[in-house]
Amino acid sequence: MIRLIQFTDTHLMQDPAARLRGVRTLPSVQACLAHARRRHFPADIVTVTGDLVQDDPEAYGVFELLFDQFAAPVLLGPGNHDIPSELRRRLSHAPFQVGGLRLAGSWQIVMLDTWFERSEDGEGQLGQDEIDRLDATLAAHRDRHALVLLHHPPLRMDAPSLDQLGLLDAAAFHEVIRRHPQVRGVVWGHAHQSLDVYHGAIRWMCAPSTCMQFRPRDDYFATDDRPPGYRVIDLHDDGGIASEVVWLEGYAS
Ligand SMILES: [Fe+2]
Repeated sequence: MIRLIQFTDTHLMQDPAARLRGVRTLPSVQACLAHARRRHFPADIVTVTGDLVQDDPEAYGVFELLFDQFAAPVLLGPGNHDIPSELRRRLSHAPFQVGGLRLAGSWQIVMLDTWFERSEDGEGQLGQDEIDRLDATLAAHRDRHALVLLHHPPLRMDAPSLDQLGLLDAAAFHEVIRRHPQVRGVVWGHAHQSLDVYHGAIRWMCAPSTCMQFRPRDDYFATDDRPPGYRVIDLHDDGGIASEVVWLEGYAS
């Protein structure tokens, strides 16, 4: 079994007291990391699925200090609030890996990049190169179960304000996924909430942010009063996935 722990949307800023919609993002991610270490480690892979920082290039130094503590590889993908050139410059040494593929046990874990230059309001796009890379990677490892990670929601989350700003080329993504039956799970962030559904044999999962949450399935954008959280994903040798979202109940910001 391969254990992967997903943190997402850490939205760090250089100022340790900085808040995102009322929540101080540094202590909340620290609380999530401490909780996970206590309850769910050792892990084989740690992942952070985007929006590592809140538009602040200096905050990658804070991120580096926080996540450098893991013996496990830390697989990163950019979100719309990241600055990819700076993310790669600061975090391209072990244990960090930005994008790409990891092979572990009978699994392949593919991290996609949905950041694109012309995003105006936070929407994401894979682009043809990234779609082709996913297709080629899955074709090259047909014998391995696949878990695909990205920042933007690849399916509708029943919240118009989020769905308008989702993954622009989701249709092309689904076309590739349909061609590769070994894909067992797709995992993302961006929506600051938990979702866990099956479509066919594929499990589709969103993790809450390590800071503040959005209210699920609402016609209008609103913040939720749920605490910080993260997701634990156990990848079994036979292709089965066991996963739970862990909430820091009682966390006071
Ligand atoms: Fe985002």
